[in-house]
Amino acid sequence: MTVDGSGAASTGPDDPAAPAEVDPPADSRGTDDAAGSWVAVATADAVPRGEVTEAILDGADVVVWRTESGVPCVMEARCPHQWSHLGDAGAVAGEELVCLTHFWTFGTDGRGWKENLDGRRDRKGDIEVHPCREVAGEILVRRAPRHNP
Ligand code: FES
Repeated sequence: MTVDGSGAASTGPDDPAAPAEVDPPADSRGTDDAAGSWVAVATADAVPRGEVTEAILDGADVVVWRTESGVPCVMEARCPHQWSHLGDAGAVAGEELVCLTHFWTFGTDGRGWKENLDGRRDRKGDIEVHPCREVAGEILVRRAPRHNP
């Protein structure tokens, strides 16, 4: 996990545009059960508005980024086009993450798009997004529930 704590933007309770904090169920964080669990992937301060950082979730590379309006998002790290790592090739533009290799863009819902020179947006490949919440200064990701054999 790459969390350097150097983020400067505030998204605290005094920031009117900060996303609302929603507490996960008290008994679910850090536990594995049929409903899944919540795990911290980054501190909120490590992901200021408009920034991207890298993290590891269950051994897989993910990127943690925040839209210009302050919405956090956790998604797989590799662009579905030609596999660029979005921790290096990704940049936030408004409410989307842009892969700078060939300019595919992804919303916080994971839908992929590309805009042509005339401004037409065409659908492209989607990317996996992990449900996340910002709680008490941490960005938490919901893991899939474990299935017992
Ligand atoms: S590798 Fe990301 S747009 Fe081509």
